[in-house]
Amino acid sequence: MTLIKQLFSCFIKFDSLVLTYHKNTKTMHKFQLPQLGYAYAALEPYFDRETMTIHHQKHHQAYVDNLNKALEGTASEADNLLDILTSVSKYSSAVRNNGGGHFNHTLFWEILSPNPKTVPTGKLADEINAAFGSLEELKAQIKNSGLGQFGSGWSWLYVKHSGALAIVATPNQDNPLMDTQSIGRGFPILGVDVWEHAYYLKYQNKRADYLDAFWSLLDWSVVEQKYDTVIAGLV
Ligand SMILES: [Fe+2]
Repeated sequence: MTLIKQLFSCFIKFDSLVLTYHKNTKTMHKFQLPQLGYAYAALEPYFDRETMTIHHQKHHQAYVDNLNKALEGTASEADNLLDILTSVSKYSSAVRNNGGGHFNHTLFWEILSPNPKTVPTGKLADEINAAFGSLEELKAQIKNSGLGQFGSGWSWLYVKHSGALAIVATPNQDNPLMDTQSIGRGFPILGVDVWEHAYYLKYQNKRADYLDAFWSLLDWSVVEQKYDTVIAGLV
């Protein structure tokens, strides 16, 4: 198993991947919508129940359904999501958009919590201070990255292949895993969805207010776990 596959196994809950059998007994992967670890209303007042419900049940479900549809009946239908994303230039735009959408939203749900650890500690905290000067500066840069993303996309904190921390914004459902990224490739450990569907019902056009609210829900313990897993594989 390659390093990246080992890392991937820690990032995507395997309950989102199930083995199913076609009627002709051919084995395939079929992606599924992951369950949230909290109720839709649990992130109030920062993220409202209605937005969370639609975001998970409609938007994320659509990415999963359309990813399955795009792969069904093709030679790629048994490919795992990591292989797809790290070599996404070989796939259709439907696979890129919906595979990215499935990965990105799965990560997003995982790092949110109604009872988050509000500051990082340990090696991640040390690296944040070394790379950005302070946690507040990191937050400011992620916010600015999200605000600067024209239209829909994501703002990321990710671990470069060198092991260094970095911030990048990506359009649509792209992410730093993808080989289509001209800058900023590596493994994402924190992502903020800046599509309007993530905030418009509560915050309307005030993306900045939504990005400020995000920090009240971000569970640094999950980000630390992801960081430690990546670093353990790199050193
Ligand atoms: Fe979204």
